[in-house]
Amino acid sequence: MSSRDISPASDGESAAPQARDIFTTRLGVIAATLGSAVGLGNIWKFPSMTGQNGGAAFVLVYVLATLLVGLPVMISEHAIGRRGRADAIGSLRKLAPNTSWWLVGAIGVLAAFSIMAFYTEVAGWVFAYIATAIGSMFQGASGALASTDPTTTTAVFTKLVTNPWLSLMLQWVVLAWVGAIILAGVSKGIERMTKRLLPLLFVLLVVVGIRSLTLPGSGEGLRFLFRPDFSAITPAVVLAAVGLSFFKLSVGMGTMITYGSYFREDQNIPATATRVMLADLLVSMLAGIAIFPAVFAFGFEPTAGPSLLFITIPAVFASMPGGSFFLVLFFVLAAIAATGAMLSLAEVPVAYLNEQLGWSRKKATLATMVLLALVGSTAALSNSVLADFKPFGKTMFDLFDFGSSNVMLPIGGIFICLFVGWRWSYPELKKVLSNDGALRNERFIAAFRGVVKFVSPVAVLVVLLSGLGLLG
Ligand code: TRP
Repeated sequence: MSSRDISPASDGESAAPQARDIFTTRLGVIAATLGSAVGLGNIWKFPSMTGQNGGAAFVLVYVLATLLVGLPVMISEHAIGRRGRADAIGSLRKLAPNTSWWLVGAIGVLAAFSIMAFYTEVAGWVFAYIATAIGSMFQGASGALASTDPTTTTAVFTKLVTNPWLSLMLQWVVLAWVGAIILAGVSKGIERMTKRLLPLLFVLLVVVGIRSLTLPGSGEGLRFLFRPDFSAITPAVVLAAVGLSFFKLSVGMGTMITYGSYFREDQNIPATATRVMLADLLVSMLAGIAIFPAVFAFGFEPTAGPSLLFITIPAVFASMPGGSFFLVLFFVLAAIAATGAMLSLAEVPVAYLNEQLGWSRKKATLATMVLLALVGSTAALSNSVLADFKPFGKTMFDLFDFGSSNVMLPIGGIFICLFVGWRWSYPELKKVLSNDGALRNERFIAAFRGVVKFVSPVAVLVVLLSGLGLLG
């Protein structure tokens, strides 16, 4: 397969119709999968976690987790989906009738709710920043976001998140937006849009990255991102890195089972998953390069956490010509990336209510959105009214974030590995991953089987128990 096959630029009208048919589908699968993977996880979660957990050493552990755990689970989910040809719970029911394996899908529905609870709020901030950035564009130097001074950009963000009604309303706008797209059934349109615009986000990240790197004093940021200091690595940090590797690749809860069920029989699953993983990693690294050199150059704190994206990126743009326009563009693209990810998340409970309980799609979507608004409101208010409500020592926002990435996704991931590694016989696994012998990847499959049978599940279990402080 030539590199042309995966290049977004070659998705033009010039290809011959016959070739294009197959090619589009193959690219479409990668685009859809990548559309679910790339999201706020890359431009918001990855940088903020890297900043909070000591920089390069965290990145290294994260990359290792992606290779040893995230990728194998993704391949496993695609395999389960294509074999089951149904939604997550349905596929597991079909492949393992009269067993409890479907419960893995049920945990997934719960995880989808937890993730959406905080994800919709962060997406709401992105939406708000689009409006603020447009305002700033017309106000010039006096605009709210036209500053490279940490105190100014921090104040803008604080004012936003501590406003309870605004926080709620932003979340409702996001939920209405996602619900409307799901209801209209134009997810194909959105997917097509995502496919076209993701490359643009990519280009913009490169532009911001170059600006960030050419700021005086940016070297400190590069050192932070690339020179590891392992003293900050604790079991809890390793668990966070493993959790991020699940969150990033949208695995551990059945999204990728659902996507796998749409794969063609001749889709090369291991190759597809590997490409998606690499592209996703590249976007995260670009986001890191766009953010950290500027953090140090302008005197921000790398440990700022969730606010990092919202205080640093405006400052970088404020320091470049035409920056106010690019700032609007950046947050619009971030909103689009977030939308693609949220569609894949919301689809899990909607599909469940629709297919398993027989609700109409409209009723299922409405119920999901209302329930998400209720559950999510506790996350939306966790910087204002509920700031002091801290079960397990965490705000509701942090609890949803922590509970999904650091508990539910890893548990889901362990069981998915066990299913593919132990329940499936070797010939069966070989059949699925080699497309019935059409692909000559026997050695890969043999190695893969060892990994999902032993390495991944044991590694995740140990990391999970020690990260939660349950190992003595
Ligand atoms: N991967 C997405 C991101 O990085 C988030 C996401 C979408 C997700 N679907 C998911 C996370 C399913 C876990 C499971 O923004």
